[in-house]
Amino acid sequence: FLGATLAAGAAVGLAACSSGAPPVVRRPAQRPLAIPPLALAGRDAAGRRVVELTAAPGESAFLDGPTTPTWGYGGLPFGGPTIRARRGEEVVVRVTNRLPETTTTHWHGMTLPARMDGGPHQPIAPGETWEASWRVDQPAATLWYHPHPHGATERHVHRGLAGLILVDDDVRVDLPGRYGVDDVPVVLTDRSFAPDGSFDTAHRNAVGLLGDTVLVNGTVAPYLDVRTTRVRLRVLNASPARSYRVGAGAPVTLVGTDGGLLPSPRVVPDVLLTPGERAEIVVECAPGRRTVLRSLPDELGAVNGIAIAAGGHDTLDLLELRPADRLEPSPAVPAVLSREAPLDEGAALRTRRFVLSSNRINGLAMDMGRVDEVVEAGATEIWELANRHTLPHNIHVHDARLQVLSPGERAWKDTVAVPPGRTVRLLVRVGPYADPEVPYMIHCHMLRHEDDGMMLQFLVVGPGQRPAPVIGHAHG
Ligand code: C2O
Ligand code: CU
Repeated sequence: FLGATLAAGAAVGLAACSSGAPPVVRRPAQRPLAIPPLALAGRDAAGRRVVELTAAPGESAFLDGPTTPTWGYGGLPFGGPTIRARRGEEVVVRVTNRLPETTTTHWHGMTLPARMDGGPHQPIAPGETWEASWRVDQPAATLWYHPHPHGATERHVHRGLAGLILVDDDVRVDLPGRYGVDDVPVVLTDRSFAPDGSFDTAHRNAVGLLGDTVLVNGTVAPYLDVRTTRVRLRVLNASPARSYRVGAGAPVTLVGTDGGLLPSPRVVPDVLLTPGERAEIVVECAPGRRTVLRSLPDELGAVNGIAIAAGGHDTLDLLELRPADRLEPSPAVPAVLSREAPLDEGAALRTRRFVLSSNRINGLAMDMGRVDEVVEAGATEIWELANRHTLPHNIHVHDARLQVLSPGERAWKDTVAVPPGRTVRLLVRVGPYADPEVPYMIHCHMLRHEDDGMMLQFLVVGPGQRPAPVIGHAHG
């Protein structure tokens, strides 16, 4: 059922030692799910969609007790507004930094020029505004944005900086599509709270920061009133370290992954999401019958010789769906969702190998002044990720569209789980933008691993172009 792409993910373990993992706090669903507002967008004279985004500190009331100092985008104290853009459109995002320290804003999953990527080479100093602009040219998908300052990504994301980007295209697919009504963002993060209300950063293990409380779109113990027989949930794992195996007590229909829609829907028992991954699922609702979206224990974690700590054996309630007594009928999920041609293994120009060990890739720690790989613009290649470590890792490749090499239908990915002892073979298609000076990143998306050096840099060059990295020129 679940093609090997996700099967590989399903085997991810979730952590090594149980020390540092707080027991999950259970709370009955009691707050309406917050829906991130859509970012206000203007048009400039050239017809480009212009979004202003400010990153600033705020105060959030997650629980009934004291408030929590948090960081957010776009006037929200935590999280960020959802940016929507159409394929073919030019977008301009102006990010103003009102935080007390330098940050960056990365457009996770977007194919775009390296200087617009918002990685560690595009810092935004306090008080500064950084303008990113590019042409959106990729199929409809659920992407996201978050900080990426080298060595501080976990801290900035944990403070609350993260938002969704929805790419729309002109392909008509009859899926639920009313934002916040039957097409609902589900941004998963986990946090623990200190007695004074602040986020607790003490509960960390080798995988990273783990919370005892799940926040969905920043809401603790949320419920969603449902008015239709089907809801499409756009689930993003925005957690620093925790993985979730998302199920609804009955099979769900998986319609999309990181990079867009599947060729056709797949009915699956659950979907495993490691940090950074997305899944679009359609859940069937019966009138008046409540359904709880849960993260389930991962027995496969034990098979891999790893236990528990990152949520591997906890059952977490994520979101209660509360259908009304009368529901508006939703159309059936179409049998064909996408006709996009899969990547062609025969077109792969070469194979690269990446060995994952403790906070290292190919034995190397991230060095902003070193270029690790040089790839031709638009190339398709095979990248082999071998996890030789006892911990789970995952790998996110900037700018690229990925497919796990496996029999059957292939899902579009940009972040893939690499369980301990496993090798995952990917088809990688890098974007069309050559820049011999500014690199893209490939890294583990467990943010503490990334911050501790589990990241390499690659340049994308044009035919015959020589890499000429500008080292230390932070603004690229
Ligand atoms: Cu979502 Cu390089 O990050
Ligand atoms: Cu890792």
